[in-house]
Amino acid sequence: MIIRPEKHSDLGSIRSVHTVSFPDTNEARLVDELRTANRLSISLVAVKLHEVVGHVAFSPVIVHGAEGAGLGPVAVLPAYRRIGIGEQLIRKGLEACRKQGDGYVVVLGAPSYYSRFGFKSADSWELCYKNGYADAFQAMELVPGAIPAGGGVVDYAPEFTAVDRSPAG
Ligand SMILES: CC(C)(COP(=O)(O)OP(=O)(O)OC[C@H]1O[C@@H](n2cnc3c(N)ncnc32)[C@H](O)[C@@H]1OP(=O)(O)O)[C@@H](O)C(=O)NCCC(=O)NCCS
Repeated sequence: MIIRPEKHSDLGSIRSVHTVSFPDTNEARLVDELRTANRLSISLVAVKLHEVVGHVAFSPVIVHGAEGAGLGPVAVLPAYRRIGIGEQLIRKGLEACRKQGDGYVVVLGAPSYYSRFGFKSADSWELCYKNGYADAFQAMELVPGAIPAGGGVVDYAPEFTAVDRSPAG
C-alpha cells in the first residue's frame, strides 16, 4: 500500500471513496469544490493494488489571523477499514501540514479516534467551531504557541458552508 498526493486520474475514485463512506454525496462534492477553489491544500490517496482505497483532505482554516489546516473529510473503503489505512493517511497528512508550514490543525470527529494523533479538545485553547460540536472539535499544535492566546471561532473555507456541511474529519 502506498500513500501519495492525488493525481488528476484519481478524481473519480476519490469521489467514489467518499460517496460509499458517507450517507450522501456532500463530502465527495466538498472535495471537488475545494479543489476547484484552490483550497484543497493537501489531498492524499491510499493505493492498494492500483486501486484508490482511501483519501484524506486538508484545507486552510484561520483564527484571529493565524492560519492552520482543517483535516477532513477522510474516508477508507469499507472492505479496507481497521487495518491502519486511515491512520497512515492522517499521519502522512499531518507530516505534509508540518512541511507546508501549518502551525496547527483542527478536526471535527470522534475524540476516541483522533486522540491517537495528538489531538485534544479545542476547548483547551478556547477554540470553537461556529455551529457548536464542542466535544467533537479538536486541535493540535504543530508549532508550539501557533494557536493565538484566547482562541476564538475557527473559520473554515467557504465551501464548507456553501451547503449544510460540517467539517467532519
Ligand atoms: C474513520 C475511517 C476513515 C477510519 O479508517 P480506518 O482505515 O478504518 O482507520 P484505522 O484502521 O486507522 O483505525 C481504525 C480504528 O478507528 C476506529 N474508528 C473508526 N471510526 C470511528 C469513529 N467514528 N469513532 C471512533 N472510532 C472510530 C475503529 O474503531 C478502529 O479502532 P481500533 O484501532 O481501536 O481498532 C473509516 O472508518 C471511514 O472511512 N469511516 C466512514 C467515513 C467517516 O466516518 N470518516 C471520518 C469521520 S467524518
